[in-house]
Amino acid sequence: MCGIVGYFGPLNPKDIILSGLKRLEYRGYDSAGVAIIHQGGLKRIRAEGKLVNLETKLKNEKFDGRLGIGHTRWATHGVPSERNAHPHLVKGLSLVHNGIIENYLEIREALQKRGADITSDTDSELVAHLLAEEVEKTKDLFKAVQNVLGMLRGAFSILAIWDQQPDQLVAFKDGPPLVVGIGKDEAFVVSDVQAVLQYTKKFIYLEDREIAVVKVGKVQIFSALGLRLEKPVVELNWTSEQVDKLGFAHYMLKEIYEQPQAVVAAMEPHIDLKNQSVRLKNVGFGHSPQSLDGLNSITDWQETQNIFAKIEKIFIVACGTSFYAGQIGKYLIENIAQLPVETDIASEFRYRKPIFSKNTLMISISQSGETADTLAAVRLAKEKGLTTLSICNVKNSTIDREASGHMYMNSGTEVGVASTKAFASTLTVLHCLTLALAKARGLLNIETEKDHILHLQKVPSQMEVVLAYDKYFAEAANSLKEFRGFLYMGRGVSYPIAMEGALKLKELAYLHAEGYAAGEMKHGPLALIDSRMAIVMVVPDDDLFEKSISNLEEARARGGKIISIGTVDNLRLKSVSDRYLGLPKAHWSITPLLSVIPLQLMAYHLANSLEYDVDQPRNLAKSVTVE
Ligand code: M6R
Repeated sequence: MCGIVGYFGPLNPKDIILSGLKRLEYRGYDSAGVAIIHQGGLKRIRAEGKLVNLETKLKNEKFDGRLGIGHTRWATHGVPSERNAHPHLVKGLSLVHNGIIENYLEIREALQKRGADITSDTDSELVAHLLAEEVEKTKDLFKAVQNVLGMLRGAFSILAIWDQQPDQLVAFKDGPPLVVGIGKDEAFVVSDVQAVLQYTKKFIYLEDREIAVVKVGKVQIFSALGLRLEKPVVELNWTSEQVDKLGFAHYMLKEIYEQPQAVVAAMEPHIDLKNQSVRLKNVGFGHSPQSLDGLNSITDWQETQNIFAKIEKIFIVACGTSFYAGQIGKYLIENIAQLPVETDIASEFRYRKPIFSKNTLMISISQSGETADTLAAVRLAKEKGLTTLSICNVKNSTIDREASGHMYMNSGTEVGVASTKAFASTLTVLHCLTLALAKARGLLNIETEKDHILHLQKVPSQMEVVLAYDKYFAEAANSLKEFRGFLYMGRGVSYPIAMEGALKLKELAYLHAEGYAAGEMKHGPLALIDSRMAIVMVVPDDDLFEKSISNLEEARARGGKIISIGTVDNLRLKSVSDRYLGLPKAHWSITPLLSVIPLQLMAYHLANSLEYDVDQPRNLAKSVTVE
């Protein structure tokens, strides 16, 4: 993960790099550092912990050079500490690295034999030693990078500078994203365009094993073999989004409250509200994300339907919260579009040798569009000839660029490491996609289509109602403090919601919670139940209601304390619960969009009252670009 920023130009590198790192802090916050040319050498400053610590250290520091690199770290090899912080500096050669060097043990051993003075526990420092050895021989950073590239195995994106060539920065990658921003007489090299959108909108996206050489007013891209490549400069029409807490105590809380708008933004391109019909907008199978705006929407929709009509099977692949959204997608698609769906965690899918058949669609879901395992799964699916469709929030991200078809969450920037609004957006996109699949297969009559759209249209106002109950969720959260463990349970579409609720509690409040299919309780978890175990059960008024009540009775009979999330005024559910939270009545396919909110808010309030950092939970990062 980690965020990297490089700058070369007339402005003060310290300010540009710091502002870029601030926008990349979602990628890691274990330590941060910069190395900037100063008085003919390299001045490096690093700090353990969040970026604010580095900012404090840099406050009165001056640099006279115009070239520098910076890094915000998510630790892989070596504990979070200043000594393991980037940039690494070896004999005037400095680098920042995002990723993992898999053959680091053999490199370390070889370097030690050659007498290298290794000062950190990281894999990254080893690359700095290799480069320092090579510049010594070649006297040229670009040539040194070419030589070292062949020595590395793993996933990496690296920026390197050398004090003997203070007029160039060399960047190279194999795996994690790296983008070169082109300004007037200046250039930026970053992990994510968000870092420098306020300075430039022109970017070159590096592909694996490409090398960028950045000099004053000149950016050149080469293949690993040194062939000069002509790469397109992509002009983005995005504005640098001002991400602000808007008066909320945390980004996460703001993002939870933004869910009604997120649902509207996700559905708006795909639903013709006037005619109450679904028409996916510019999915653009076979087109690049940058060219989607230029498509003829009517023709594109026709082509999309032709592709959908032939689909016989679907894989949905994702990680974490995106995976749970995908699992709800399975229920929607199987039920409404009557297609078989297999869901898989990307890190399993890519290694488990799934059986691929003809006419299979692989849907990948990723808020960041950079998750390494999900990306590898997309590549595998393409290799096997599957049609790929991505659902991403970040446009032009690697997964978006590599998939054949494109749909977007349109959530706006999600800053909180715990995903909330992107989950709601994904469910909405999956809903639209399900209706489109059903329509293309001739399974959606006009009345049913209108009904579904009506249900979807009601969601934002129903979400507002749920959000208005926040004080009850805060009270419920307070009551959770007395428990030693948590079982989150649900059936049908509420089962993935239970898993998502448990994940939120784990990542924010650092408490052990398990998400379970309620029907599985008596196959093991029942043994855990006593008065110190809380059962958080999602029980909407649906066909499975009675079955869920039986599960609750079984848990109660063993002393478990029940917190239920159901439909408003359901006295039966209330009577079997220690605490009951009633939500607006909704169609079964819509209930996940509502029932997830109390679970998000309970985790938020509990973590907040325990004084944990809810926006940046320990050990996590927003974008997981390593395996
Ligand atoms: O960017 P992605 O949607 O691919 O990220 C997937 C997971 O890493 C992410 O959902 C993670 O589980 C969140 N921290 C959950 O809140």
